[in-house]
Amino acid sequence: MRAYRAAIFHLLEEPASGRTPAHAYHPDGLLLVEDDRIAACGDFEALKDQLGAAPVEAFPGRLITPGFIDLHIHFPQLEAIAAYGEQLLDWLDRYIYPAEAAFADPAHAAAAASAFLDALLRHGTTTALVFGSSHKASVEALFTEALGRNMRLIAGKVLMDRGAPDALLDGRDGGRRDTLDLIADWNGKGRLGYAVTPRFALTSSPAQLAMAGEILADHPDVWLQTHLAESPAEIAAVGGLFPDAGDYLAVYEAAGLVRRRSVFAHCVHLDNAGFARLAGADAAVAFCPASNLFLGSGLFPLRAALTEGVKVGIGTDVGAGTSVSVLANLGEAYKVGQLQHQPLDPLQAFYLATLGGARALDLDDRIGNLAPGKEADFLVLDLAATPVLAARTGAAASLEERLFALMILGDDRVVEQTYVAGVRRHSRGR
Ligand code: GUN
Ligand code: ZN
Repeated sequence: MRAYRAAIFHLLEEPASGRTPAHAYHPDGLLLVEDDRIAACGDFEALKDQLGAAPVEAFPGRLITPGFIDLHIHFPQLEAIAAYGEQLLDWLDRYIYPAEAAFADPAHAAAAASAFLDALLRHGTTTALVFGSSHKASVEALFTEALGRNMRLIAGKVLMDRGAPDALLDGRDGGRRDTLDLIADWNGKGRLGYAVTPRFALTSSPAQLAMAGEILADHPDVWLQTHLAESPAEIAAVGGLFPDAGDYLAVYEAAGLVRRRSVFAHCVHLDNAGFARLAGADAAVAFCPASNLFLGSGLFPLRAALTEGVKVGIGTDVGAGTSVSVLANLGEAYKVGQLQHQPLDPLQAFYLATLGGARALDLDDRIGNLAPGKEADFLVLDLAATPVLAARTGAAASLEERLFALMILGDDRVVEQTYVAGVRRHSRGR
């Protein structure tokens, strides 16, 4: 047993749901960890008798939170982040497909996988739902590195059989074979999971989408990730390719892709009825604010999504997203809300970054907060990491004010320690 003493904050319910108490805050808290699990979490005074001989590591002035969950990120795109001047479809053609083509080289993929996971941990992300490239070896490299760090990571090889350079296309049979092999080899190994990953409706034939749906029907425990209703030009192109579908979401519904454990990135241009269809199928949405602003895709209607009861989490969507930091993306989410006169409450924001992401992944029995029995993925945050943060959080009266300062001003600099399944995997400055 190990023990950590600091202020502790985590979510118990979705604040917007009205269910209470939605969060727990222990100004002088104690977190007890036994092996890879949370044993107890609460006030130091209330728990100190359970310490026994366990050594206590004290982090005065620090805040312990659950690890962040990134619901949408592209591992081959980290090196293509900050590419100038284009919106989605031209950005893919000009920058992203060439960057992903480099992942045909397994040595390149292996080096990139290690750098990518180190970046996640440095930014406080302990779980992510990740797109590989269309090369099977890219996902093998990522899983190998994630297994070595014992991370709860879900990833998939991109399926794409049209509408992109030949070097990236897999073909329906190649895509099926690689996907089935990867599921057999990796799904459920350690803390890893597999996500069937058709890129989007523009790069998969109807036959490939149907194949993805057949695999899901045979493997109800695996995940599905794709993009949906991100940009106006994309939506118009989908309408041209699938004139009889009804709408974009219906393309995925017809293929059997919309179900529990399915996560749809963006959904910027869905209306209430679309969100209601996702909610009815128990599917989830990854809200990717930095990406939506960077590519000029639009403003995600979070209020409509929550009104319809669909599960939502935060995706950084690197490389269209401009930061690996989930915290920095919460700051962007706030600004997306402001442009719609709907400011994002900090408690709701931290819900999206932790327990909301866990629920979207159907993994809230294991991760998402610090409840006893959950896997011990947690962070030690430094609210005085920069002089400006120190001044702002020092003057802040309430927990909500400090959390808000963290999401507006914070990034990897505030992440002092990252623990994965009870083991410290990142320590700032080391
Ligand atoms: N739609 C299809 N592929 C992509 C991608 O790589 N990034 C984003 N943001 N949208 C996509
Ligand atoms: Zn994406």
